[in-house]
Amino acid sequence: MRPAFQQPAALPPDWVDILADPLCPLDRVRCSLRPAYARAMSASNEKSPLPGPKATNVRRRVGSGNSDKLPGKTAMKTTIIVCDTCDFSETEKFDAAGQTGGEILAGHVENLASRVPGLAVRRQSCLMGCERHCNTVVAAPGKLTYVIGRFEPCAESAQAVIDYACLHRDSGTGQVPYKQWPHGVKGHFIARIPALDTAPGPAPKIDGD
Ligand code: FES
Repeated sequence: MRPAFQQPAALPPDWVDILADPLCPLDRVRCSLRPAYARAMSASNEKSPLPGPKATNVRRRVGSGNSDKLPGKTAMKTTIIVCDTCDFSETEKFDAAGQTGGEILAGHVENLASRVPGLAVRRQSCLMGCERHCNTVVAAPGKLTYVIGRFEPCAESAQAVIDYACLHRDSGTGQVPYKQWPHGVKGHFIARIPALDTAPGPAPKIDGD
């Protein structure tokens, strides 16, 4: 017999932040957490998915499978891959000088990253996310990879990517607490990809812890 459903007195802080954020950092349109959470909260014969060791059904949907205690991860460089063929705007491939949006963004990212230790930058022609230009990837060996896009090709966007990449570099798994996310990357996450070279771990948490 299942235990009675216990409505939590209050949402954990990370959920409050995420659900209240008008930009929805987990992507308001496609994010599966919102309906999953709503279902869980309204199902009187199910436990809350939020706290506790059995609270795994929601979190697995966006999981990393990594452990924060893997040694040596923080010493690795984080690489920012910038698509250099992304469009300049919704209607224009190139700016007046003949540069793509991706080339402009890559230039800004390269310039900023040259002054930051532990970051590398690569250009890639098309990341196959062309509709969400301008696109970037933040990755490091053994860590979560993040696809981040829908950026304007400008210095402000580049700074946000750099700031996030620094947090990724300093994280053991690549996961960054939501409260630390730079404002400029909120609402820009497209995908989170588990590292291939790590064994599946315990139920991962969303990017809020
Ligand atoms: S041109 Fe940038 S993702 Fe395709």
